[in-house]
Amino acid sequence: MRHLIDPLDFTLGETERLLELAQKIIREPEKYAHLCDGRILATLFYEPSTRTRLSFESAMMRLGGKVLGFASADNSSAAKGESVADTIRMISGYADIAAMRHFKEGAPLVASRYAKIPVINAGDGGHQHPTQTLTDLLTIRLKRGEINGVTIGLCGDLKFGRTVHSLIKSLVRYKGVKFLFISPEELPVPGYILKEVVEPSGHSYREVRTMEEVMPQLDILYMTRVQRERFFNEEDYVRLKDSFILTPEKLNLGKKDLAVMHPLPRVNEISPLVDADERAVYFEQARNGVYVRMALILCLLGLVPGILEEGE
Ligand code: NCD
Repeated sequence: MRHLIDPLDFTLGETERLLELAQKIIREPEKYAHLCDGRILATLFYEPSTRTRLSFESAMMRLGGKVLGFASADNSSAAKGESVADTIRMISGYADIAAMRHFKEGAPLVASRYAKIPVINAGDGGHQHPTQTLTDLLTIRLKRGEINGVTIGLCGDLKFGRTVHSLIKSLVRYKGVKFLFISPEELPVPGYILKEVVEPSGHSYREVRTMEEVMPQLDILYMTRVQRERFFNEEDYVRLKDSFILTPEKLNLGKKDLAVMHPLPRVNEISPLVDADERAVYFEQARNGVYVRMALILCLLGLVPGILEEGE
């Protein structure tokens, strides 16, 4: 049985085959519409979510399956003090696969150790968000045809943004990737990611403080929200929240085929005036999340063979 807790739980080959399956699902959704008949997905969300939870639910329903779960810690037994280990042991009898989001880093990993069903990390604190990464990789692939050779600017809260951490971890496995890290001085890519992930990969990277200085080079601009819920005090958040705001004027410094991505929700960091520009792909990106999650559920349940390697 396999789980997806960290983006590196899947090899590059497995990741690529999964993205190909997602593209097949986009082309012929009806072929997949009943593969999960009679199966149940549990969505265990201890932290707020719109896209991730609903796209998981939509994915399972589009495969013919059913869904149960909770959308906040307050209305689950966590409020009574139940441990993640106990919850998942019980859920293993109620569902065939589970997606878990938790405010504590590592909670889905703990769950996977006690689970009798595949567990998917749907975001753990400021740590990782592997299914957003699959969504992001699919979006880059659909926009550019391939991921190799991409020059990507990651902008905003690179310290607490788990989508950024997972995306960097995955992107270093491709060839010729160039990273431009655009953040305020207080919110840089964590040192452990630079030292353990980016530097050993040999890919070039640069940390900058404005988006204007790198805009003309970028193939992808990946905007992120300042992660208010991870700050220790409100004053720091208020001071940093509007560090970067993408406007049509700044976008005009970018290439004609630039793609502007954002895992969403956006707060202030992309002006709504940018939405009409065809380089704004964030809503398309959100839709891609349904297809990768359909592919992921099928693979983890063993319903489409040949994607995940045996015995890993
Ligand atoms: C992201 C998350 O939860 O980390 N949202 C998402 O899943 N699409 C990004 C964010 O909350 O800023």
